[in-house]
Amino acid sequence: MKPNVPRWKVFVTRALPGDSITRLLARAEVEVWPREMPPPRAEFMKRLRQVDAVLSMLSDALDAAAISAAPNLKVISNYAVGFDNVDLDAATRVGIPVGHTPGVLTDATADLAFALLLAAARRVAEGDREVRAGKWRTWGPQTLLGADVTGATLGIVGWGQIGQATARRAAGFGMKILYSNRRARRGTGPAPSSIEARAVSLDRLLAESNFVSIHVPLTPNTRHMIGWAELRRMKPGAILINTARGPIVDQKALVHALRSGRLGGAGLDVTHPEPIRRGDPLLKLPNIVITPHIGSASRATREKMAAMAVDNILAVMDGRVPQWCANAGVKLRPRSPRPA
Ligand code: DGY
Repeated sequence: MKPNVPRWKVFVTRALPGDSITRLLARAEVEVWPREMPPPRAEFMKRLRQVDAVLSMLSDALDAAAISAAPNLKVISNYAVGFDNVDLDAATRVGIPVGHTPGVLTDATADLAFALLLAAARRVAEGDREVRAGKWRTWGPQTLLGADVTGATLGIVGWGQIGQATARRAAGFGMKILYSNRRARRGTGPAPSSIEARAVSLDRLLAESNFVSIHVPLTPNTRHMIGWAELRRMKPGAILINTARGPIVDQKALVHALRSGRLGGAGLDVTHPEPIRRGDPLLKLPNIVITPHIGSASRATREKMAAMAVDNILAVMDGRVPQWCANAGVKLRPRSPRPA
């Protein structure tokens, strides 16, 4: 690098697993936010004003106000496949590419969806709580009776990579698989690759499935896509799984569906808000298992995500659009040195 070209300033909003950060350190001035909790908004905005690149988490709001307060920012590299925390239009308007980490977390997330499905069906968390509370008094023929998974019907809402990976796991359990996505509704969904699965409308999927698993991104169209009307269409006793984004499900409606016994249970890795509030009525219900947004949280997956997020920044440093870019058609902001 020529000595008179200033090094990029990069803000990484949380310490990442693995050693990918060393590749950034070799080429940029890097600040890593050292705490467990995200930088408060004022701190975040202060850093954004100063840096050329930000490596952000899904808990960092990169809305239009944040983006317009970042005159030197040349790339947002989001450490997630989802990018609903970023105002994509605002970033595109000012020439900021938004990198993300698709593909690499597909299997880990599908594993967790299936773990929640099994846990909710077989009341694993309830059983664990009972054992710890000293309530395991004897073997009982009616203790914690759950739902069968083998041979049951799984409805996958959103036939993307994670939805299909979840379906592959379900096929191993002899489940019948239905799926819906926007194109499937019009009868032109993607071929179900090697998986035996049937494209149906969302209404039909809800009416025929014993388990429904959500795999759509959060967009204005999918916010509260599963509300009371949809939950009411589900089979009595069916189980809902959500590893996508919390606001896709209307949580008040879900509480009602679980309380009234309309649904048999739920498995959530995502809630709205995150973290879920301590007094949230969902936490009082026995027939729900909730994990703290850990779909991609295997060590190897998170290390690969870190490598991709770093690569996305280095690409822009070299004048290229990131390989994994949510707004690939973006016209890059000039890379000229920051004004003094
Ligand atoms: C994502 O990547 O969008 C997940 O929700 C977190 O890994």
